[in-house]
Formats: sequence, C-alpha cells, structure tokens
Amino acid sequence: MSKQKNSLPPIILDDVQQICTNAAWALKRLEGKTILIAGAAGFLPSYFVHTLAYANLEMLKRPCKVICLDNFRTGKAERLLPWKGHKNIKFLTKDIIKPLNIKDDIDYIIHGASIASPVWYRKFPLETIDANVIGTRRLLDLARVQKSAGFLYLSSSEIYGDPLKQFIPTSEDYWGNVSSTGPRACYDESKRLAETLCMTYYRQFDVPVKIIRPFNVYGPGLRLDDGRVVPDFIKNALEKKTITIFSNGKVTRSFCYVTDAISAMIMLLTNDKADGEAFNVGNDEEVTIFKLAKTVDEVVGNKEGVNFVENSDKAYLKDNPQRRVPNLGKIQKTIDWTPRIPLAEGLRRTICFYKGDKE
Ligand SMILES: NC(=O)c1ccc[n+]([C@@H]2O[C@H](COP(=O)([O-])OP(=O)(O)OC[C@H]3O[C@@H](n4cnc5c(N)ncnc54)[C@H](O)[C@@H]3O)[C@@H](O)[C@H]2O)c1
Repeated sequence: MSKQKNSLPPIILDDVQQICTNAAWALKRLEGKTILIAGAAGFLPSYFVHTLAYANLEMLKRPCKVICLDNFRTGKAERLLPWKGHKNIKFLTKDIIKPLNIKDDIDYIIHGASIASPVWYRKFPLETIDANVIGTRRLLDLARVQKSAGFLYLSSSEIYGDPLKQFIPTSEDYWGNVSSTGPRACYDESKRLAETLCMTYYRQFDVPVKIIRPFNVYGPGLRLDDGRVVPDFIKNALEKKTITIFSNGKVTRSFCYVTDAISAMIMLLTNDKADGEAFNVGNDEEVTIFKLAKTVDEVVGNKEGVNFVENSDKAYLKDNPQRRVPNLGKIQKTIDWTPRIPLAEGLRRTICFYKGDKE
C-alpha cells in the first residue's frame, strides 16, 4: 500500500514540523498509544491532531491512534479534513457533557473542549460551564476507569482573573483575583472548578493530570470570526480598514505563537514530573493592545491606523484583566522549553495563512 500523505496548508505543515522537532522525544513516547483529543476541531486541539497524525507518517515506527471528539459548537470540521480517511485517525461527533460510551482503550486524554472566546462564552454561559465542569468530570472518569497514563487539561490564564500588580508576572501559586458573579465568571470560575476536579481525581484516584494555563495563544487556523483580539485585528487590517480597539488600548496581554504552546504541552503530557501540577504556558513578552494593533498593521502593510470605540456590548470590558503576563519559572524548571517565536514573526506567519501565501 502506498504511504498516506498529508494535505496540510503549507504554513501549518511548517508549524507541525517545528513542533515535531521541538517535542521529538515526547512524541516518541506516544508510539503505539491511543490518544483521545476532546475539542479536536478547535484551534489548539486541531494542532495536536495535526502533530500526532504527521508524526505517524514521518516519525513513529508504531503509529499512535488518535480519536478526535467534538460537538462542533465553535470547532470547524474543515480543520480535520486533511486527515479524513487516514488509518489510525478516528472521528467522533459527541458532546462531552453526555455519556461518552467510548469502547477503545485510551492511554492519554487531551481535554481542550470548551467555548474559549469571550464573545462566545458570554453568549453561551451555561454550555461553557457544562463543558468545563460536567465534561471534565466525564473525561476524568474515563481516565480513571481506563487507568490512562496522562490527562492534559487545558485550563486558562483567566483563572488568575485581574492579578494585583505585585503578582505580575503571574506564577502558578497565585490564587487569583476573580469575580464569581460577573459576565466572565462562567468561563473563569468553571475553569477553576475544573482544576479542582482534576486535582481531586489526582489525589483520590491517582489520575495523572497535568493542568495547562495557556496565555493568549494565536496562530494560523484561528477563526477570523472567533471574536478574540488577534483575529479581529487581522480581519480589520486585511480588509484595509481602521483597526477597531474596544478599550483605551492600554491593557496588556502576552501573546504566544501556537508552535511554542503546543510543543510545551506535548512535552508536559508525557512527563511524570508534571503529574498533579499546573503550568503557565505562554510568552512573557508583555504588549499593550495598542502595540498589538500597530504590529498587525505593520505586518499587513495597512495604513488605516487605529480607532478607539465603545463596544455596543456593555459587558465587554467588565472585569477585564488589566495586565496579563506569565511567570515561566516553573515550566522551565520542569521541561527544556522556551518560547521562541516573537510577536511580529508569529503574526507574519498567521497573516500568511489567511492570505493563502505559499512560500
Ligand atoms: N487559544 C487560547 O489562547 C486559549 C487560552 C486559554 C485557554 N484555552 C483553552 O484551550 C482549549 C482550546 O481553545 P481554542 O482556543 O482552541 O478554542 P476553540 O473554540 O477553537 O476550540 C474548542 C473546541 O471545543 C469544542 N467544544 C466546545 N464545547 C464542547 C463540548 N461540550 N463537547 C465537545 N466539544 C466541545 C468546540 O466545538 C471547539 O472545537 C479550550 O479549553 C480553551 O478554554 C485556549
């Protein structure tokens, strides 16, 4: 039989090859294993699918089996099309809040199933809470029954809320400054409770959980209508419009390119030292939203400038964290990893993807 090929867009293929180089030893540990990816049609989870499927073709002597599960609430089936018909890649349309009835033996679970964009979780607060609380419990039960070797939960830097200034950059031992009643609480608080569930299953049932707190990860494949700030600004710039900022532009974030984040998460998935621990995954280059807008304009070559506008959604800025920067000390003591892709380079790659550039 002829070797199966991949049909990934060139930039994503290049990203995946980079991840395979960065995380080669960790990927080798997944040889012959079965990995369930919840939320597989989402932006970040689809990068796990691409990486494992590509590793099967090019790196692993014994392929791993990848089970892709999604309810397509915000995920896009097109993201997974390159792997349709591939041996060892299986697709399940399921909601993690319903009984899972999974018959396969699962060695590793990567749980990235949640509504993730503020615009969407404010529209679907109960679905967001259910995926993170009921869904996480179901997946943890599966890991417990199956005695899985690793459970990676994609929590969020949002669990820190709006950190007090003495806790910036923020390390994992910061307890957070979070509203339990505001419009963001459905996401922040359900992520916090999901972390508590993970730690309870670790302590009571030895489920080897690893909690990841991603800080604003972006890259090729993010939906342009996702409502998060990077695709919003890129969309404005590509349409040669003024970039609209729904704030004074002074709040800060730290943006992490997808290859850096996925490499770190794969290294942690198979690392026993990470069991029962939470890790910040991000880039510690802090930038204002205004600087992000200017950088997007520069990379696109748009000359329309920026415009500060009040959002018609009055809850848009409520409880909005003012500064967000990860302290990377803990992860860097655990794995040999550092974020490598600077913001302008990551944006250039992301924009190339949207423009369909081949080089
Ligand atoms: N991208 C980031 O910067 C970032 C930052 C912090 C946390 N995270 C977390 O990482 C995970 C992936 O985020 P993303 O940015 O790729 O978002 P995404 O919206 O692209 O992906 C999430 C996926 O989960 C699926 N999903 C949602 N509810 C589900 C359910 N009940 N059952 C099955 N599937 C369901 C969606 O359809 C989607 O495909 C999420 O848990 C998110 O909270 C992401």
